[in-house]
Amino acid sequence: MTLQAVKGFKDILPGETEKWAFMEKTARQVFRTYAFSEIRTPIVEKTDLFIRSIGTFTDIVEKEMYTLTDRSGDSLALRPEATASVLRAFIEHGLAARQPIHKLYSIGPMFRHERPQKGRLRQFHQINAEYIGSASPYADAEMIRLVLHLLDRLGLRDLRLRINSLGCPLCRPSFSAALVEYLEDRALLLCPDCQRRMKVNPLRTFDCKVERCQEVMAEAPTILAYNCPLCRNHYDRVRELVSDLSLPVYPDPRLVRGLDYYTRTTFEVSAEGLGAQDAVAGGGRYDGLIRSLGGPDLPAIGFAIGMERAALLMPDQEDWGTGPLVFLIPLGEEARSRAFGLLNALHKKDIPAHMEYEEKSLKSQLKRADKMKAPYAAILGSEELREDRILIRDLNRQEQERIPLPRFLDFFLEKSKKSKA
Ligand code: HAM
Repeated sequence: MTLQAVKGFKDILPGETEKWAFMEKTARQVFRTYAFSEIRTPIVEKTDLFIRSIGTFTDIVEKEMYTLTDRSGDSLALRPEATASVLRAFIEHGLAARQPIHKLYSIGPMFRHERPQKGRLRQFHQINAEYIGSASPYADAEMIRLVLHLLDRLGLRDLRLRINSLGCPLCRPSFSAALVEYLEDRALLLCPDCQRRMKVNPLRTFDCKVERCQEVMAEAPTILAYNCPLCRNHYDRVRELVSDLSLPVYPDPRLVRGLDYYTRTTFEVSAEGLGAQDAVAGGGRYDGLIRSLGGPDLPAIGFAIGMERAALLMPDQEDWGTGPLVFLIPLGEEARSRAFGLLNALHKKDIPAHMEYEEKSLKSQLKRADKMKAPYAAILGSEELREDRILIRDLNRQEQERIPLPRFLDFFLEKSKKSKA
């Protein structure tokens, strides 16, 4: 039997990892700009954490979690998302006592047993951000601006933002009651799943993919008419604060998202190039969640970007800046041993450099340098050795010069400073 990766679990190979490294580096830079700190949590948690946060009657908990019973009989789950884990850590370590506001990001794999297709995997990766401690609509606006800033820095274009308000515990119940009444009148038109959802978690009927259910939901009452004045003001202010963005913002009263913890603002960023799975990022406010998990009563808002989907949308770049700055080409054994010393000197100064030890022609080594996208080749042949020089070839400009060997290291120190600037 040939060995293969598990269905829905994907290798990310050299050639792609450069793009991923770029994504991670860019995310870290942008998070620094917005004063976020990184938090890393385990990929396994007690199953109960996800049930209590995402909700018992959600697709993720009902159908998609990878759970296992460990040797001590505990039910554990591979995390299907990051928010619950971040909050568990936040509460467990009493981070709230350290300062009033917490801006936390994390990057890593998540697991959901969904049907794999383009942009949908069973192990996928998220760039996740949580802003804890502010109920202000400015915090919502900052998070929406942050997610769009980050996607823009990754090179994503032609995005759309959908936004909604799911209300609060004051106004949600009257909406739920109206929705249930509407659904009960049409129960026979609904799929068996929705007939059940209607009873246990009516909001989830908006997520159903069955065409007939979607037709029913298109006419269903929406939350906006039921929002209390405080929720309405909050929502109006958030939209005002993002009204100068350079992309279309669509209020979508049916955007309920697939997780139960949201209150007030929810949003999703989608892109046309993705096909059926068009959400590249999603998030929202979850003002009651921290308290319901046993923590302090703190409001919060967050989002997550799907990295596989972002990678699909990122423009391909010839060079992600991960190749060597210089490819050393010694010709002959004496040159090789001399060039090895130069290579070590470059590495000591953290200058990206590469050299190969097999006896190959100048032409084939230059081809390799080109393949690795090195901007410079440094060629050391017998003539150069005699003159105590080395030939530097600028592979982009196709120019070359011989420089004295003692200047070699300074030459590349200078170039590497320029390439980092
Ligand atoms: P979510 O909408 O479930 O939200 O996931 C966020 C993003 O992760 C999606 O927009 C999508 O790009 C990506 N994603 C989700 N499932 C898959 C999959 N099976 N394969 C590939 N990509 C996927 C959350 O997870 C919330 N925790 C976001 C959040 C943070 N809300 C508040 N704070």
